[in-house]
Amino acid sequence: MIKAIVTGHSSGLGAALAQTLLARGISVLGLSRRANPALHASGLTQHAIDLSEAGALEGWLAGSDLADFVKDADTALLINNAGQLQPVAPCGAQGPALIAAAIQLNLSAPLLLANAFVAATARCSGRRIVHISSGAARSPYAGWSVYGATKAGLDQHARAVALDGIPGLRIASLAPGVVDTPMQGEVRASDPAHFPQLARFAALKRDGQLSAPTDVAHRLVEHLLGEHFGEWVDGDLRNLPAA
Ligand SMILES: NC(=O)c1ccc[n+]([C@@H]2O[C@H](COP(=O)([O-])OP(=O)(O)OC[C@H]3O[C@@H](n4cnc5c(N)ncnc54)[C@H](OP(=O)(O)O)[C@@H]3O)[C@@H](O)[C@H]2O)c1
Repeated sequence: MIKAIVTGHSSGLGAALAQTLLARGISVLGLSRRANPALHASGLTQHAIDLSEAGALEGWLAGSDLADFVKDADTALLINNAGQLQPVAPCGAQGPALIAAAIQLNLSAPLLLANAFVAATARCSGRRIVHISSGAARSPYAGWSVYGATKAGLDQHARAVALDGIPGLRIASLAPGVVDTPMQGEVRASDPAHFPQLARFAALKRDGQLSAPTDVAHRLVEHLLGEHFGEWVDGDLRNLPAA
């Protein structure tokens, strides 16, 4: 039996990932602040949690929900997808609370979950972790210094964990491309004085160049379940084999 933990399953790419996994008969434990009312399938467990709140995830992980969810899985998956773009501003003009929340949500939570997941899945024959990274981890964007730093942290975490020699574990940190989600709406709503690339992202939407979340989710799930997963630890999903 395959079971998957998906953060940020209430919207955008995470919602499409949860839908894709459930359609394949894979049970999903979704972690977001909001529930996803569109996912009616059996096999879905939802837990409301603010992953940007210091202490909230540690408190949840101190309980048994995660271990209980994976205890009958042969293969367990962790998709660290939840993320926030804010603060979008140059250094010196970023809200301190937004910096702290972004680091907690985009970086601390995936690392805490990965650590707990590895500990809880020792008896699974297969276990796979994917961090949803970003092109901003590898190319700097003015205005996105916090976001890019958190995503670069995910990449380096995956590279190091891949060297830990953990039995049965494969890990990758993958950029999904430019996906037509609420986060892209937020990109286009940025103050152009704070985000000089705004016009380029607006043009991508106008020219129909954004990927559909369902297409990206199908490709990611195929790759995650495929034989090559983990061979490219810090790749771009668009350049990887699907399976
Ligand atoms: N869209 C793109 O073009 C693109 C490109 C590169 C990378 N990414 C990455 O892809 C991932 C998914 O992004 P998306 O575009 O699908 O964004 P989205 O539509 O804004 O969805 C973000 C998800 O994260 C969850 N989330 C946000 N803050 C949270 C919090 N404090 N606690 C718990 N969950 C929280 C949201 O759920 P709640 O609001 O219910 O909490 C939501 O389900 C992110 O890591 C993003 O950085 C996206």
